[in-house]
Amino acid sequence: LRDFAATLQAELDELAAADRLRACHELAGASRQRPLGPAGPLLSFSSNDYLGLASHPEVLAAAATTAAREGFGAGAARLVTGDLPAHRTLERDLAIFTGRPAALLFPTGYQANLGVVTALAGPGDLIASDAANHASLIDGCRLSRATVAVYPHADPAGAAAALSRPGTFRRRLLVTESLFSMDGDDAPLAELAALAESHDAILVVDEAHALGTTGPGGRGLAAAAGIQPDVLIGTLGKAFGSAGGFVAGAEELRAFLVNRARSFIFATAPPPPVAAAAAAALRLAAAGEGDRRRERLAANRTLLLELLGPAVAPADRSFVSPILPIVLGSDARALAASARLREEGLFVPAIRPPTVPEGTARLRITFSSEHTPAEIDTLGQALRRILA
Ligand SMILES: Cc1ncc(COP(=O)(O)O)c(C=O)c1O
Repeated sequence: LRDFAATLQAELDELAAADRLRACHELAGASRQRPLGPAGPLLSFSSNDYLGLASHPEVLAAAATTAAREGFGAGAARLVTGDLPAHRTLERDLAIFTGRPAALLFPTGYQANLGVVTALAGPGDLIASDAANHASLIDGCRLSRATVAVYPHADPAGAAAALSRPGTFRRRLLVTESLFSMDGDDAPLAELAALAESHDAILVVDEAHALGTTGPGGRGLAAAAGIQPDVLIGTLGKAFGSAGGFVAGAEELRAFLVNRARSFIFATAPPPPVAAAAAAALRLAAAGEGDRRRERLAANRTLLLELLGPAVAPADRSFVSPILPIVLGSDARALAASARLREEGLFVPAIRPPTVPEGTARLRITFSSEHTPAEIDTLGQALRRILA
């Protein structure tokens, strides 16, 4: 066993030497924007709690009430032990929110992506996949054993070429995020939808970062583009402040996934209080409260872009992205910038390969509606000093 530990340590040492070692920071408190670190209070721009709903009183109350009524852990997978009211209610609400006939909950967004791609594609199928897609989509592609054609990021011509790969395929899938998690940019959804149509492909869109934050009433970038992907995927762990993932689409898709998505079939259902918390957050996000929070989120982004200027921050986009990358290049440079910000009480993570391509290590800033203008100003001043 000592040898085993030593071989692991040797790999960890190699990672450290390459500035690639990762570890989780210790935080406390209910706020994701103002957590408590070991050395005192921090101002965090790292969380995907974009609307501050993770600590909203109505979300907390829904979890507590449902825990008392339905218990905490679900007890087993739903095909084994059955659905609880919190599951059914949340799925109905998600279907209404996304404007689709049906929705199916998964324990996490990661498992939703894994389950969808492996259920819909297998050997003899073709998947066209954006080069910047999230690890969970990549893992789904790999596990599916389908032919995978990776196309250049957000490039419709590349997607068309990938979909036209010669060969006889049973089914073609076009898989993309709508709002990319590390670049904060958007996919050309209208063009991709047209391509899927003309190539008789199934369009799979992961809206993990877009639902709640963008589009009409927070309904995401597919809704903003006026398209209906065949398969829409979301998470409840980001703007909806809870945990879990879901797939929205036709009733037949839902029934198919219940029978074929292994990450649904063979995993314990989400705890009912977690589902109830997500349902409460969804109600807030879809209502006037959500609109007000999205306005504050947009204002925070605009303010930071103004403070940083075009030399540091990329040109503004047609939509309000809650994610702003500042690409610094080397891992060491990104790590040093993050560490200096941390010394000033600012928590902005350095994102390194393999999460992002080689040579594009970056600071990844995420905005929340709950950051105050003064806090954005503090971040802006610190970034200007550190990046000068
Ligand atoms: C684009 C994207 N899809 C899926 C996921 C996974 O969702 P979850 O955190 O709910 O597992 C993430 C991040 O976590 C993501 O950024």
